[in-house]
Amino acid sequence: MAITLHNITEVVTASLGEHGEITDRQREIMTSLIKHLHSFCKDVNLQHHEFLAACDYLARAGQTCDDKRQEFILLGDILGVEVLVDMLSNPVEGTESESTVLGPFYRETPPVLPKGASTVQKDFADQETVYFEGHIRDADGQPLAGVILDVWEDAPNGLYENHDPDQPDFNLRGRFETDENGHYAFRAVRPVPYPIPDNETAGELLRFMGHHPNRPGHMHFIVSKDGYRPLISQIYDSSSAWLDNDSVFAVKDSLVGEFKPAPEGMDTDLHVEFDFTLKRVSAEDKIAAE
Ligand code: BEZ
Ligand code: FE
Repeated sequence: MAITLHNITEVVTASLGEHGEITDRQREIMTSLIKHLHSFCKDVNLQHHEFLAACDYLARAGQTCDDKRQEFILLGDILGVEVLVDMLSNPVEGTESESTVLGPFYRETPPVLPKGASTVQKDFADQETVYFEGHIRDADGQPLAGVILDVWEDAPNGLYENHDPDQPDFNLRGRFETDENGHYAFRAVRPVPYPIPDNETAGELLRFMGHHPNRPGHMHFIVSKDGYRPLISQIYDSSSAWLDNDSVFAVKDSLVGEFKPAPEGMDTDLHVEFDFTLKRVSAEDKIAAE
């Protein structure tokens, strides 16, 4: 069949699976991807020099990745794709807490710390210390014991420890567990706003879109317990800059917390109380996720 501007999309989608077996999901994904890519090219009347520039850009993005920098997650964040995929993957159907993006700075195996301990391994002159605490419950309001919380945040200089040679390994990271009342607590510092990496191809994309790189101050959480949907989320400082203008579109109203002056007798500057509700997963959900 002669290939024309009018039939090219149909020709390519019809060819799927012609010379090798593909699953229904592969067919669904590739059909939609080809349709959207083709209509994008037609929409903007993409020219060959622009196609070559995009190929060069993607090649450079790949070369930017190493064990500390995952450029494609960053590009997905800047385009609002990570937050969209998170909302599709973790729809909120009841009273469960909202999730948001994981981001590129999570490290597995943080220090395991007792309830109430501090994640701070290095003090900064301008830091404000915070006591974080709250309860973790199921949808019926029952407290959940033995819930694991991984927490991580940037330092008062705006850098995560693994991007700052002057911070100790795993500074401001920890793994905590709820007690028999579903209560968690830890000490940390007030997270400050910071720019996502804005050099290399992520920076080029930000400038191409006329965007700034900044994120509001936030504490990251992964909250998990067998039988419940793992919750990847963040608590945002209600008084932070960039709350209404996050470079990665990840702020949700329900995740904004108050950093209040600590009450008398507390040994930190500030106090945050924030509860989470976990959603039970059914056996079918588990199978579908595998
Ligand atoms: C973060 O919150 O750590 C983050 C999220 C998306 C892109 C960059 C950083
Ligand atoms: Fe972050």
